[in-house]
Amino acid sequence: MSSYIIEGGRKLEGEVTVSGSKNASLPIIAASILNKGTTKLYDIPNIQDTRITLEILKYLGCKVKKSHGKIEINSKNVTKKEIPEHLMSQMRSTVVLAGAILGRFKEARFSYPGGCDIGARPIDLHLSAFKKLGINIIEDSGFITCKCDKIVGANIDLDFPSVGATENIILASVYAEGVTTITNAAMEPEIVDLAKCLNKMGAKIEGAGTNIIKITGANKLKDINYTVMQDRIEAGTLLCAGAITGGNIILNYKTPEHITPILNKLEESGCKIKIEKDKVYLQAPKKLKAVDIKTMPYPGFPTDMQSVFASTLTLAKGTSMIIENIFENRYRYAAELKKMGAKITIEGKTAVIKGVRKLSGAKVKSTDLRGGACLVLAGLVARGTTTVTNIEYILRGYEKLDEKLTNLGAKIYIDEEN
Ligand code: UD1
Repeated sequence: MSSYIIEGGRKLEGEVTVSGSKNASLPIIAASILNKGTTKLYDIPNIQDTRITLEILKYLGCKVKKSHGKIEINSKNVTKKEIPEHLMSQMRSTVVLAGAILGRFKEARFSYPGGCDIGARPIDLHLSAFKKLGINIIEDSGFITCKCDKIVGANIDLDFPSVGATENIILASVYAEGVTTITNAAMEPEIVDLAKCLNKMGAKIEGAGTNIIKITGANKLKDINYTVMQDRIEAGTLLCAGAITGGNIILNYKTPEHITPILNKLEESGCKIKIEKDKVYLQAPKKLKAVDIKTMPYPGFPTDMQSVFASTLTLAKGTSMIIENIFENRYRYAAELKKMGAKITIEGKTAVIKGVRKLSGAKVKSTDLRGGACLVLAGLVARGTTTVTNIEYILRGYEKLDEKLTNLGAKIYIDEEN
């Protein structure tokens, strides 16, 4: 396990470019399985989660070529329909590969997915949606086998607007007979990106970005080039890094409309935000103000920014209250922040953060991807040296985080041994 060593106390200043979106890349890579030819993808971030997904594609029989920001996937000779357990268990979003394999072959076998330990994360909504599409599901000793003669369009009303389930339904029904309608669909920008990519291939998906999505079965998809959207959670994380250090950041980011709730909360906390074509400017105040946050499905405040914002608020004037409504186990970072001097109390879904005057460097452990990032932010402003261990979690989702922060003036490096 590696660590970040951070010397705190430097204001971040300068310009930084946001990488391609992790959460858009994963279902889009899965979508390439549906195209029986070549899909060329641009700006896929080079992070552990995309590498594992591409490993699975190779195992299935896809040819994968990587060169300078481009990934070329040829899915013509895919033969395998089973995802090996050792790869499936490494991350939760491997579950969307099931929808793509099913959509292509009407058959898929996989184990329960893994991922960050931030709550129960069941896949019941995915499986009940597959059943509605006419797919038989057999579960035995941790493995799930899905099979049918044909996938038939259906009306699927989701009990909760699950991002992964919405993506899985779209992927499984691209070639379905007739029309599939998802109501109470997730409205996240990553779903819009997946639908845009699939529609470019020739799929017929309408309504992505609203809570009703209609998929009319297509006969054939075609080869495309596609550039994935930028990562809105990375954008938010870098802005918060600017905010917590009292810095001045210019973000090269083309879709500020995706981060409206984050920008609103940063403004409420006293940051000056200016948006110009393809750029977001953030100027932090000397002292941030406390704000209250409730995580909600998009377009609400994203759960993936909850920990990062919490750490930003540890030094704010006053008391902030956070309510986490999406995942029940997303406060594990709080115990680590407390080691650095933060005052946080957790009760159920609620975190109360009393702003303190300073944080102090300490040895702290990443508990999950975003929980790890929040400790890095705390380290940037803490007095002395902070060691963030288990950064493999962070490397799963942030591309070149240390390099980007260094370019903004931070002192951070990776220690492979710690
Ligand atoms: C995706 C994102 C993740 C983000 C989350 C919520 C990816 C790779 N990951 O995760 O970063 O935090 O959306 O915005 O895109 N649920 C069920 N049954 C199901 C599916 C989900 O009960 O079958 C529950 C989950 O336990 C959770 C909530 O629904 O409480 C949201 O989950 P979901 O929207 O599915 O998140 P993911 O797709 O896993």
